[in-house]
Amino acid sequence: MAFDAARFVAQKTEELKKYADGEAIIATSGGVDSTAAAVLAKTALGRKLHCVFVDTGMLRKGEAETAKANFEKCGLDVKIVDASSLFLSGLKGVTDPEKKRKIIGECFIRVFEQEAKGCKAKYLVQGTIAPDWIESGLGIRDNIKSHHNVGGLPKEMGLLLIEPMRDLYKDEVRLVAKELGVPSDVFSRQPFPGPGLAIRVMGEVTRERVDIVREACAIAEEEFEAAAKAGKMRIPWQYFAVLLPVRSVGVQGDVRAYGYTIAVRAVDAADGMTANYSAVPHDVLHKISLRITNAMKDKVNRVVFDVTNKPPATIEWE
Ligand code: XMP
Repeated sequence: MAFDAARFVAQKTEELKKYADGEAIIATSGGVDSTAAAVLAKTALGRKLHCVFVDTGMLRKGEAETAKANFEKCGLDVKIVDASSLFLSGLKGVTDPEKKRKIIGECFIRVFEQEAKGCKAKYLVQGTIAPDWIESGLGIRDNIKSHHNVGGLPKEMGLLLIEPMRDLYKDEVRLVAKELGVPSDVFSRQPFPGPGLAIRVMGEVTRERVDIVREACAIAEEEFEAAAKAGKMRIPWQYFAVLLPVRSVGVQGDVRAYGYTIAVRAVDAADGMTANYSAVPHDVLHKISLRITNAMKDKVNRVVFDVTNKPPATIEWE
């Protein structure tokens, strides 16, 4: 049977009303999953729902501003919390991807608990969707990676969890968002993982490395979007840059360079459970490479393009 978004919204709104006996808190990242969850919960819980946006310090360029504008469009009143120092200090010296994810999950919960105290919240609403818990190993499958909002959650948590969309896939979430009146530029946004740029910096996360990958991601996004607008290619399902932990020898003018490598990733997918790397015209890749190495001359001297599907790879590198 085809997914009926209107029926889903009506059913979930009724179900969520049973949580109106207490205050609830939701962290909205500005992405489609948490925005749809917030609008849905708002419809059911009204003023009992408190929305927060956590600045982890691992956000994309201009993300806080974009998110703020999007919340306004969706009629959500959102408190912005700057927790970047907490996340960065928690990740100091950590290189293992799973450890990073667990630390990030824990940092999020510490922030939610703090905010929950302020509004006396009993419930935590999350925009968790099916791939999040399937890949976190909560189903019958192996733990591929602990998504920040599932396997990354600490066992001790002083809030009761509500996840109205946990059985949905991304394409269904987009239909729900549309049904809820979320504007199309919000529900058609490419996915961005909750742990943010921390899982696009291979190895240790430092402010400097996050700044490098943030700039590279911004350039890659701009170029893919411009190429799609110009009709050179279809916009990929997801497209971004990753900072690799290896450095390599290069030459800047006549001078030896020893800089970082950026990997560019672009994939086509339906729901992110599997994906194919996108066919990207050469001139688009060329421009991305040129812009990244020019913008960060003293830091990055090599750009590569990832030509791996999922499986055997995953979409993100960590
Ligand atoms: P992978 O890398 O597992 O990613 O192939 C599938 C999709 O999920 C996103 N992703 C996450 N989203 N929290 C999220 O909210 C996470 O911890 C997380 N890890 C991966 C990824 O960007 C892709 O769209």
